[in-house]
Amino acid sequence: MPDPTRPRASLRTAVVWEVLQEALDRRVKATGRDALDVLDTGGGSGNFAVPLARLGHRVTVVDPSPNALFALERRAAEAGVADRVKGVQGDVLGLFDVVERGGHDVVLCHGVLEYVDDPAEGVRNTVAALRSEGVLSLLAAGVGGAVVARALAGHFKEAKQALEDPDGRWGSGDPMPRRFSADQLTALVEGAGLAVAAVHGVRVFADLVPGVLVDTEPGALDALLRLEAAAAELPAFHAVATQLHVLGETPGAAGV
Ligand SMILES: C[S@@+](CC[C@H](N)C(=O)[O-])C[C@H]1O[C@@H](n2cnc3c(N)ncnc32)[C@H](O)[C@@H]1O
Repeated sequence: MPDPTRPRASLRTAVVWEVLQEALDRRVKATGRDALDVLDTGGGSGNFAVPLARLGHRVTVVDPSPNALFALERRAAEAGVADRVKGVQGDVLGLFDVVERGGHDVVLCHGVLEYVDDPAEGVRNTVAALRSEGVLSLLAAGVGGAVVARALAGHFKEAKQALEDPDGRWGSGDPMPRRFSADQLTALVEGAGLAVAAVHGVRVFADLVPGVLVDTEPGALDALLRLEAAAAELPAFHAVATQLHVLGETPGAAGV
């Protein structure tokens, strides 16, 4: 559910929203409940939580940042969904200090694994927060996208370093602590006991295209959105995506 008033933002999130909405629709159908219990780990100021609450779901956001939680509260109130959004200060590595195990239909972990000390434990916790039939939406920075971006900016040494670094970092000035390949993310999801239902590449081209092209050429944004959607499905493009999205399902929910 990208915000139509922020077209550039929709380029960053459209692929994830489409996959997520289909997964939510399947859970709604399978459970017979219109309002699902969603946990958004590292949900920040509610980029996903608030639109999900607007769809009628109950969303708990766990995030260590008091500022993000304050912004979340304000945003939820402005959107008229304060009663369906709960912000809790906490860490995905200490998740069960603040939320119950096994209590959620859908868990989001978007843009968080990059920052946690132990990504495998982070993913195991997100999975343990799911009901026996549930879905994990995992989004994390892709290593190949960073290599291409550094190279196209003329930073060839940094591009090579990101390519060879075990954490996919291009140097000590890199603000991103860790990036992942699609294989690494699917291994984390499967290692935590879920079946991988889908892998998508996110922002394959969006970050490489000059903004002025998209903003001024009539129809360019729509055409780029359609190109992103088509490339997202193809493993060849996963290798160069800025982010990777993995949808995991508990064995009970797989194929439903
Ligand atoms: C890049 S932002 C992503 C926000 C949101 N998930 C989104 O997709 O728009 C990363 C978020 O992860 C949170 N975060 C960082 N370390 C975390 C941890 N160990 N556990 C949970 N959240 C964490 C940050 O406070 C921040 O809100």
